[in-house]
Amino acid sequence: MSSLYPLFHKLENRRVTVVGAGSVALRRIRRLLEAGARVTVISPEALEEITSLDEKGELDWERRPYRRGDIEKADLVLTATGDHKLSENVKEEARELGILFNSAEDEGLCDFHVPGLVDAGALKLALSSDGQDPALVAAVSRQLESWLEAREEPEAANAGTPAGENQPAASSGKVYLVGAGPGDPGLLTVKAARLLENADLVCHDRLVSEQVLGLIPESAEKIYVGKEVGCGREIDPVELMISAASDGRNVVRLKGGDPVLFGRGAEEMIALAEAGIDYEIVPGVSALCSVAISAGIPVTHREVASEVIIRSGHAMKDDSTDAGPAETAARGTTFVYFMAINRLEQVIEDLRAEGVGEETPVAIVENGTLPGERVICSELSEIVREATAAGIRPPALILVGEVVRLREQLTAALEARVSS
Ligand SMILES: C[S@@+](CC[C@H](N)C(=O)[O-])C[C@H]1O[C@@H](n2cnc3c(N)ncnc32)[C@H](O)[C@@H]1O
Repeated sequence: MSSLYPLFHKLENRRVTVVGAGSVALRRIRRLLEAGARVTVISPEALEEITSLDEKGELDWERRPYRRGDIEKADLVLTATGDHKLSENVKEEARELGILFNSAEDEGLCDFHVPGLVDAGALKLALSSDGQDPALVAAVSRQLESWLEAREEPEAANAGTPAGENQPAASSGKVYLVGAGPGDPGLLTVKAARLLENADLVCHDRLVSEQVLGLIPESAEKIYVGKEVGCGREIDPVELMISAASDGRNVVRLKGGDPVLFGRGAEEMIALAEAGIDYEIVPGVSALCSVAISAGIPVTHREVASEVIIRSGHAMKDDSTDAGPAETAARGTTFVYFMAINRLEQVIEDLRAEGVGEETPVAIVENGTLPGERVICSELSEIVREATAAGIRPPALILVGEVVRLREQLTAALEARVSS
C-alpha cells in the first residue's frame, strides 16, 4: 500500500459535514472551526458545547439522524458516531460524490487521517503513523510538547507571563485505571467520581455495578471490554485504550473493587507504559474489607485474627496436595477467597489439608454492598451443602476464620441500636 501524502488543507469557508456530536466529534469540530470551515453537524443529540455553538451561529446543527443526500454539498465529510454501519453508508455516498471522507470508527474507510497535533501557536506539527502506530505518535507528541514547553519557559519568565500560559495544548490523552469499588456507588472514591465526570471514554468490566455505570455522563462513550463467560474478549482493552489516548481522549479504565487486586490492572498499565501512553492508577475500595464488613465481618480483630490470607480461586491448582502447616488456622488467620465460589468444594478440601478444623466458621457474601446482598454463614463441614442449597452465585466472597463469629455480635449490636 502507498504511504499517505501529507498536506495542510485550507478550509476557510469550505463546507464540512460532521456526522455525530459526541466527544470525538467535538474535538474534530473545534479544529475545523479554528480553520474557518462552515460546519454542519448531523446528529439527533449533541453535547452541550455543540448546542451552544449552534445557538451562537458558529455551526449548523441538524437535530436528526443522517440520511442520504445530506452530504451532497459538502467539501469534506467526517463521521464520529461509534456506528460502523452508519460510517460505511456515509463513506459509500461520499465515494459516489467524490468527497474526501474520514471515519473515527474505521481507519480502513478513511481517505484522510486526522493527525495527532502539537499546537504551538503558528507552529503546528501534525503527526501520523499511517494508522500503524498510534502509541508512537502519542509518545513523540509528548516529547515534542515537553521540549517546546522547556523552550518557552525562560521566555515566559522574562516577559512576566504566568507559568502555564501560552503552552501548547496537549494532543494526547491519558488513561486512568480507576477502582469502582464493590458495587455501592457511595463507595466510589471522590477522585474516581471526578474522573468519570470528565471522561471521554469509559472502558469497564462486568463487575462494575449498574449503579456505578449510571454515574457516567452521557457525553462519555461507554464500552464493555470484559469477557463473556466461557468466551474470550471481543475487544482488546489495551488496544482500545492506546488508540483512544493517542487520539487525545481522556480514558477511564474502570474495574471493580481495587483495580490491581486480582484485577489485571497492573498488566494493562505495563502494556500502556510500553506503548508510551500516559497513565495514572487510582485505587478503589476493594471487596476484601468492604464486602466483608457489609456482612458484619471485620477481616481482623485484635483477639481473634491478626493475619489475612487473600487467595484467588482462579489461581488454584485442580488437585492441590500442598498441605500447609497444621497450625495455620490456630494462628488466628482469616482466609479470603476471591473468584472461588464455583470451586467451593476444592477450597474447603484445601483448607482441610492445611489443618483448618471442621468447626471453623465460614461466611459467603454474594453481591456485597448491593441491594441484592445475601450472606450465608456456616461451619467448614456444612458450608458446601448450604451454599448449594442457597444457590449462591458470583460475585461472591468466601471468608473463613474466627472473625466470622463476630458477625453475630456486630449485627446484634446494630439491631439493638435500631430498635431502641
Ligand atoms: C476479578 S476479582 C476482582 C476483585 C476486585 N479487584 C476487588 O478489589 O474487589 C472478582 C471477585 O471479587 C469478589 N467480589 C467483587 N465484588 C464483589 C461483591 N460486590 N460481592 C461479593 N464479592 C465480590 C468476588 O469474589 C469476585 O469473583
